[in-house]
Amino acid sequence: MREDQIRMLVAEAVAAKEFSYSPYSRFRVGAALLTKSGKIYRGCNIENAAYGPTNCAERTAIFKAVSEGEREFAAIAISGDAEDYLYPCGVCRQVMAEFCDPDGFLIFLVKKEDDCRVFSLRDLLPGGFTAADLEKGKR
Ligand code: THU
Repeated sequence: MREDQIRMLVAEAVAAKEFSYSPYSRFRVGAALLTKSGKIYRGCNIENAAYGPTNCAERTAIFKAVSEGEREFAAIAISGDAEDYLYPCGVCRQVMAEFCDPDGFLIFLVKKEDDCRVFSLRDLLPGGFTAADLEKGKR
């Protein structure tokens, strides 16, 4: 990915925190998902008084994109309120695995706008369960 694309994606993830609905954890998270066609979908965490229905920022971005016909993704940037790298939860990693190439899809963890770590999906979800595994066991 080009340096300017990365900077833009990171800035979008930071900006996406603005609409975080997180009255229970008081922990805002923003994500910005880049499609292979160059579009960016923002997502924020959306909490619920029953806790369980809470949706993470990453899944909000992915579900927004998929619900508008996008299924080809290049990268995601994630920014939390803590001054640290925010690693995606296991559920979000599994949702990424449904749509994204384990080696091609890049995950940028944003500590500050000029301080990120980058991983492939395979780095963060080795041995992830996919549709191919499901096929192997079908009767
Ligand atoms: N959260 C995310 O949005 N993404 C993550 O990867 C980890 C956690 C949210 C869920 C909840 O609203 C808050 O952070 C505290 O767990």
